[in-house]
Amino acid sequence: MKKKVLCVIGTRPEAIKMAPVVIAFKKSSEFEVCVLATAQHRDLLDQALSLFDIKVDYDLNIMQPGQSLPELTSRLMLGVDKVLTEIKPDLVIAQGDTTTVFVTSLACFYHKIPFAHLEAGLRTHDLYSPFPEEANRVLAGNLASLHFAPTEVSKSNLLREAMDPTKIFVTGNTVIDALLVTAQKDFTLEIDIPENKRMVLVTSHRRENFGQPITNICKAILALVKKYDDIIVVFPVHPNPNIRKVVDQYLLDNARIKLVSPFDYGPFVSAMKKAYIILTDSGGVQEEAPALGKPVLVLRRDTERPEAVMEGVVKLIGTELEDIVNEASKLLDDMNEYRAMAKGASPYGDGKSSERIVDIVRSYFEQSPR
Ligand code: UD1
Ligand code: UDP
Repeated sequence: MKKKVLCVIGTRPEAIKMAPVVIAFKKSSEFEVCVLATAQHRDLLDQALSLFDIKVDYDLNIMQPGQSLPELTSRLMLGVDKVLTEIKPDLVIAQGDTTTVFVTSLACFYHKIPFAHLEAGLRTHDLYSPFPEEANRVLAGNLASLHFAPTEVSKSNLLREAMDPTKIFVTGNTVIDALLVTAQKDFTLEIDIPENKRMVLVTSHRRENFGQPITNICKAILALVKKYDDIIVVFPVHPNPNIRKVVDQYLLDNARIKLVSPFDYGPFVSAMKKAYIILTDSGGVQEEAPALGKPVLVLRRDTERPEAVMEGVVKLIGTELEDIVNEASKLLDDMNEYRAMAKGASPYGDGKSSERIVDIVRSYFEQSPR
């Protein structure tokens, strides 16, 4: 009998990172693969799913504008519980550290269904940063039967928490599978960047950056545009109202600041390829941009992704106005600084993570048939 594997997806990055896994499982005849979209994100999720042509079997359509964590958590729990009751999967996989992932792990525990955690073991070791993601991934990890750790660093975090070593597998991060396939294709970027201008690509959405930090980020962008007349800032603005409101307040109506709706994944990869430098608080972008040889300045004070920082291609700069301007200026002014960070590195994967994951799940079922 085929083993039923349920892949759960809530937000944009989960769709991008889970898509290669779904595709790899579908190639293998021993598995019946179902996809549950909680739709914690709606438009962002649909954009990402359509690029990879992922068909959703169950859609909870959870998202509400300005959703709070408690209401999101409770709606998700009832929705995921209903699907688990209906389809009784043999294994459930969820990726990362969102509320969808934490709730899925807990719902699996209640149903005594094995839960596999994709992108396991990332830690800042500060429960409140990022908030609520650090707690989400610690809690999901504690309920997991299989941990797919992207790197040796993430594996060692899990070992330090006394997780069973026989259940931890270093697979690489599936984001690199998605990136390598997407980067081969040509996607039109509908923004004109003249040959003599350098593109600064910016993204921000983290809860820790709501309020003063996002205000600082906007003011730093204004200062940089004033200081350098050869840069164009491209800022795909996350739909979270706490970000959008502030960005609109400070950055509208400047010819060299292009505020755009979130890009589909293909065009976003093109934008990363065209960028001179990238300023971001995104997790996924910290993994992808180094693989494309693009320097990344991280608008956070800590990161659960130390590997690229250690390679010298990503730098943590925080969210103070002066620090952002100074660090960006170093890269814009000094070719040696720039080259050192643009040398490229791919500590997060080789593009074959999803194949490894399917093999591990196959052996898992062979060793524990029920
Ligand atoms: C969520 C995750 C975060 C992840 C991020 C990826 C949680 C608590 N947060 O943050 O870990 O890094 O996704 O982007 O799990 N919205 C839309 N359309 C969309 C998506 C969001 O309008 O397609 C708006 C809605 O008003 C929504 C709000 O953004 O209520 C917040 O969405 P939510 O998923 O709660 O948090 P994010 O900040 O997107
Ligand atoms: N991304 C995208 N369009 C955009 C901005 C980002 O497709 O306009 C992709 C990006 O390449 C990465 C993922 O979205 O794969 C990251 O999502 P986000 O920053 O929202 O979440 P995080 O990775 O921080 O959880």
